[in-house]
Amino acid sequence: VRPTAIVTGGNRGIGRAVAEQLAGDGLRVVLLCRDGHAGEQARTAIAGTAPGAQVELVVGRLDAIGAIRTAADALRDACPQIDILIHNAGVWPTRRLCNEDGLEQSFVVNHLAPFMLNHLLAPQLTADRARVVQVTAGLYVKGHPRLTATPYGHDFGAIGTYATTKLCNLLLLPRFAAHFRARGVTINAVHPGVIRTGLGDRTGPLGLVLRAVKRLWKSPAEGARPIVHLARDPALEGRSGAYFDGPRETPLAPIARDPALAAQLWDQARALSGLSAILRDDG
Ligand SMILES: NC(=O)c1ccc[n+]([C@@H]2O[C@H](COP(=O)([O-])OP(=O)(O)OC[C@H]3O[C@@H](n4cnc5c(N)ncnc54)[C@H](OP(=O)(O)O)[C@@H]3O)[C@@H](O)[C@H]2O)c1
Repeated sequence: VRPTAIVTGGNRGIGRAVAEQLAGDGLRVVLLCRDGHAGEQARTAIAGTAPGAQVELVVGRLDAIGAIRTAADALRDACPQIDILIHNAGVWPTRRLCNEDGLEQSFVVNHLAPFMLNHLLAPQLTADRARVVQVTAGLYVKGHPRLTATPYGHDFGAIGTYATTKLCNLLLLPRFAAHFRARGVTINAVHPGVIRTGLGDRTGPLGLVLRAVKRLWKSPAEGARPIVHLARDPALEGRSGAYFDGPRETPLAPIARDPALAAQLWDQARALSGLSAILRDDG
């Protein structure tokens, strides 16, 4: 049986390149995509890049609490056992946009969705030495979570909001490492580099400048490499709770090492996502 790897947002950008590399390595790759048509096109294309590749599609959205639960259910049905879970899907919003829960979109997609999937898919992370990889961003250093404002986008900023969601991932990393330890599951986080994708694309003059600058950035395949490294490299066996800047393990800035804030974010995410009601209160 092939090991199963889930890649959220695997239809384009870095996630697609990750899916191609894992499928090429002979893994069964399951893409979680919000758009069924784009997802199916990507699935076919990725499957075509490697002979005998096994690539599957699960359609699901990560931008609202109910939708994330539905996506988790669909992933559980498709994957009774998960070897690798890659939280890649992400948004860099150019303006404040709130979802049906009243929550700011990137707070949900970038922070609450991995938080919820880590809980809801934990029973499926039963493969021997299963690994979770959180794709974050070096920009986390510009983040500043404000518990009463950030979830609702009241402190929205063109850079700050994105950076804050990525900082939330890192603040919670040690807690998830502890949470998973008893199950033999590891979790590490990675900044993939500055990569030429559609992330943060915008219209207007700034959009034109950004598109021109992006030509100089690295390819999605280059961005995928450090992610696949965390997902697969035998040398990292047992390593958990670490942050990698590209291929290099790197200490986190003090701003990301704040257990008191992490505890508050954890409790808040559980409350906002309704997980407190369905999970044992075991952290
Ligand atoms: N590019 C960089 O320089 C860079 C640097 C640091 C970190 N990162 C991180 O790398 C990851 C991948 O980014 P990328 O650059 O490859 O961006 P991208 O090309 O914009 O791809 C983002 C992916 O996330 C998916 N996604 C967005 N919202 C979603 C939702 N509500 N539900 C399900 N899927 C959703 C997108 O699906 P659709 O196609 O349907 O929109 C797409 O597949 C992100 O976490 C990003 O923050 C990127």
